[in-house]
Amino acid sequence: MQIVTSIDDLRALTRATRRDGGSIGLVPTMGNLHAGHHSLVALARERASLVVASVFVNPTQFGPNEDFARYPRTPDEDARGLAAHGCDVLFLPDVATMYPLGADDGVRVCVPGLSDVLEGAIRPGHFDGVATVVSKLFNLVQPDVAVFGRKDYQQLLVIRRLVLDLCFGIEIVGAPIVREEGGLAMSSRNQYLDAGQRQAAREVHATLRAMVGEFREGERPLEAIEAGASRRLVEAGFAPDYAVFRNATTLAIPGPDVREGLVALVAARFGGVRLIDNLAVDDPAP
Ligand code: PAF
Repeated sequence: MQIVTSIDDLRALTRATRRDGGSIGLVPTMGNLHAGHHSLVALARERASLVVASVFVNPTQFGPNEDFARYPRTPDEDARGLAAHGCDVLFLPDVATMYPLGADDGVRVCVPGLSDVLEGAIRPGHFDGVATVVSKLFNLVQPDVAVFGRKDYQQLLVIRRLVLDLCFGIEIVGAPIVREEGGLAMSSRNQYLDAGQRQAAREVHATLRAMVGEFREGERPLEAIEAGASRRLVEAGFAPDYAVFRNATTLAIPGPDVREGLVALVAARFGGVRLIDNLAVDDPAP
């Protein structure tokens, strides 16, 4: 695996692949990689002759009181893991490379509507930062396919809309969530939790399963299931931001008679950490 930090070196590699008729798969990450990220690399590997992963902790997607400064940075370990999972190129830019005009003063990309609800309402500007850095990565790498995890469900929808509306012509693959034993969705932020908290954090996935189970029984209105899920999280020591059903493509609030095409989404704070997870109601094996 080659490690590049400059745009020129990155472009030399991608140009050579395209000249030889090869295809390019991109896996954008913020590093501190775990099995979930490695599964994204595996999906890119199946689809492209050159797999590029980026590791960049993107300042513009963090709010002023969020964890940008302490976000775990483990580039050596990341490089070893990526190489072992079949990645060809690791792009490791610094802030000046990604934001030549400065992180605060550069061009911003905004995906209105989808970016303003749920996570976007709680983390204003977050998805503008994501859409901006992902657009830059798409322009730099010009991949045929890019792989993102479904754990960040809203992010995936924002990126799909970005690709559609800015005519990027890139296939976006949404990778299944990889879970720890007991159901906790893998996340770099899980390491902020101690062993006991990590065990207790399984409650998020258990709540989602209960929501989807109740939905399938079809006896209680959606609002009642949502309220029950929030109560369950509070009783387990979480501070829920939301526990809701939404249209799986638009995130619109569903009408009372909708029976399919929904996703259950939970965000809750626990032990100083914000956990997000989701489960599609049509998922055959929740
Ligand atoms: O999902 C992430 O790790 C980040 O939001 C992404 C897509 C790499 C953009 O910084």
